[in-house]
Amino acid sequence: MKNNDAIIVNSVYKKFEKQGLSLWQRWKQRRKSSQPAVHKGNGVHKTNGKTSVLLEPEMQVDLKNQNGNGKINQTSQPPAGMPAIANGNGKPKENGHKKVIVAVDRVSFTVKENEIFGVLGPNGSGKSTLIRLIATLLLPDGGELKVFGYDVVRQPRQVQELINRVSVEASFFKKLSPMENLLYGARLYGLPGGETRRQVVEILTRLGLDERSIFNPMEEMSRGMQQKVAIARALLSKPRLLLLDEPTTGLDPRSKREVQKVIEELRDLYGTTILLTTHDMHEADVLCDRVAIIDGGKIVALDTPAGLKKLIQNGDTEPTLEEVFLELTGKQLVKEEDLVPA
Ligand SMILES: Nc1ncnc2c1ncn2[C@@H]1O[C@H](COP(=O)(O)OP(=O)(O)OP(=O)(O)O)[C@@H](O)[C@H]1O
Ligand SMILES: [Mg+2]
Repeated sequence: MKNNDAIIVNSVYKKFEKQGLSLWQRWKQRRKSSQPAVHKGNGVHKTNGKTSVLLEPEMQVDLKNQNGNGKINQTSQPPAGMPAIANGNGKPKENGHKKVIVAVDRVSFTVKENEIFGVLGPNGSGKSTLIRLIATLLLPDGGELKVFGYDVVRQPRQVQELINRVSVEASFFKKLSPMENLLYGARLYGLPGGETRRQVVEILTRLGLDERSIFNPMEEMSRGMQQKVAIARALLSKPRLLLLDEPTTGLDPRSKREVQKVIEELRDLYGTTILLTTHDMHEADVLCDRVAIIDGGKIVALDTPAGLKKLIQNGDTEPTLEEVFLELTGKQLVKEEDLVPA
């Protein structure tokens, strides 16, 4: 199906629910579940007229199993007259309260076919979540997401056939060589062995890997070299849409340039559409046709690098994309006067 829009993201929303317990509380909770908890005194405690159970303070969680004599209640039923879970304010909660994190907050944008589209944002702003949603690895909680006209929720198989993704923490069989890993990956995509061997050598050499390391175990390679192998693996399937989550993070300047060159070639020679996230403002500036800046799960700006710079231009000197980013997200900027007590 020919469609000029490679990606349509329409009011997409994704939340995560996290346990609101600290590491210490979780450790205590785990310890409690592995041995019967014994509380002090008669165990019953009155606060503001409400009944709660007095345990060691950090154990005042998940009291379902308490029956008042310090033994685990097999039925898990609360004793008569006692709230199901007492937490001091009488409100029920399940193993501590759940904290909802909105990772992607009603985001809308379109990526055109053949475009290199960058996503910039501070740590935790939702970039990887967005990529995983497009890659069908996560289901959105709301909104519409289409890849070349296919819906990621209703037609994930069709989407998967057109895309490939490189994540920051790509996994490999570490005892095997890049060649073995890539041949394995290629077989999963149904690619022929002989032709793949030739391509593996070609792609990895183009990415700056020497021929010797192509046949050495992955565990002997540096993180940057492994990142290049991850990129090569994604290229083998010749995806129409390539999703790159921080493809050049941790690479030395020369390797960065090699990877950037391959990304440009892919687009120019094969018409691949590329969506990438990066923390490198220079990379976004030179590589991307358009850039979305996201903060707290929302898009705060979307334009060409030149257009973004115009947003904050004041006078003759053109700002850098980094200055635009800092101005729009404000995350790393702490003004000196804010540090001085009034
Ligand atoms: N599987 C998960 N379970 C719970 N919360 C998650 C999960 N994945 C991401 N989050 C939360 O969602 C928010 C966005 O995370 P995400 O990984 O998308 O950010 P990011 O922009 O990629 O950050 P970074 O630049 O550090 O890679 C964060 O608050 C994160 O803690
Ligand atoms: Mg990320």
